Amino acid sequence: MRDRRVVIGVTGGIAAYKACELASRLTQAGAQVRVVMTDNAQRFVSPLTFATLTNHSVATDMWAEREEMAHISLADFAEVVIVAPATANLIGKFATGIADNLLATTLLTVTCPVVLAPAMNTRMLENRVVQENLERLRERGVTIIEPEAGRLACGDTGPGRLPATDVLVEAVERALGLETDSPLAGRRVLVTAGPTREALDPVRFLSNPSTGKMGYALAEAAAARGAEVLLVSGPTELADPAGVEVVRVMSAAEMHDVVQKRSGEADVFIGAAAVADFRPARVEASKIKKAQRTELTLSLERTPDIIAAVAEWEPRPLIVGFAAETEDPRANAERKLREKNMDLIVANDVTDDDSGFGADTNRVTILDAHGGAEELPTMSKAEVAGRVLDRVQELVASGDDY
Ligand code: PMT
Repeated sequence: MRDRRVVIGVTGGIAAYKACELASRLTQAGAQVRVVMTDNAQRFVSPLTFATLTNHSVATDMWAEREEMAHISLADFAEVVIVAPATANLIGKFATGIADNLLATTLLTVTCPVVLAPAMNTRMLENRVVQENLERLRERGVTIIEPEAGRLACGDTGPGRLPATDVLVEAVERALGLETDSPLAGRRVLVTAGPTREALDPVRFLSNPSTGKMGYALAEAAAARGAEVLLVSGPTELADPAGVEVVRVMSAAEMHDVVQKRSGEADVFIGAAAVADFRPARVEASKIKKAQRTELTLSLERTPDIIAAVAEWEPRPLIVGFAAETEDPRANAERKLREKNMDLIVANDVTDDDSGFGADTNRVTILDAHGGAEELPTMSKAEVAGRVLDRVQELVASGDDY
């Protein structure tokens, strides 16, 4: 937990007092904790309590004067957000995109994993609209912690209690990918990320819109699970993920060379890079002049296939590829899985703005070499990374030859 950045959202339910223990436990475990409270939460517990427990001021007001906008700075800060307790009101707002307080606005701004711990009267919890809202959020990749059954503050008995602090802490650890008994602990994971640039002349290149977000999320998540991670990255604007060795390259050939030099140093290879398939057959030594030209014909040649070369390594690592597709993602990805001798492929639908190149979210189907397919709803790239690594862990833990 040391230095992990956790935002706790507290809403107005009697269980708000239990969030104090959560804030205290996470802070004592070394996490950097920030608390954001709704107005109704402040009727149950004073912000001063959380400020004292976390050594940080508590965010309560959308309109407080400050240098940076609170919801943006909280969203940039958070590696995980947990709302405990989450009332029916907050759940309804989050499910339908209403942003009329600081916590609801922050939830719409974050791209990290979000965990909700609903706590309310049983009849409210079982109300169809609340259940539909929870289902809608689950489909979007939000983790919902099941409320416990028992005696409620209103005197009723039934499901609706906020679970014990241990359960909440475990959910935060899982969202951060911190399981200590992870089968990836100590394994060597090599990830490629970002685009490649194929030079035409000293000032021009062929490339694609990959930003590296997906590959960096994978590298970060693998490191959080205890893996030794090498990230070979094309040109991106992203900062090096914590605890990851990063080698930056430009072209497909450079990426291929770095990966080949590290052959034998990976138990798992994940190819999230959008590697150019073709490069100019000739790189001009000086800038190509327009002069009298009305058109310019380029001759292209194939780049080295990085994944295909990794599949030849002895011993062969577990191989995960990605396939960014605009048509029939599943069929095309299945073909690439077979042709490139991979163990898993992540079929990436890149036809919508919220998925694929540049987006903070992604919509993927994970296919395995035995015909299995796991279709995931749109979720943050951090969450996609977690789901891909869950599958990798299953294969690693099975000890099968892959
Ligand atoms: O970087 P982001 O903005 O977050 O966007 C993420 C992404 C869309 C780039 C990523 O999720 C993704 O889908 N990456 C794969 C892009 C792709 O289209 O790959 P491909 O279908 O051309 O190649 C299939 C696989 O072979 C990929 O794993 C690729 O890394 C690998 N490959 C391709 C060509 C080549 N010469 N060598 C390779 O290793």
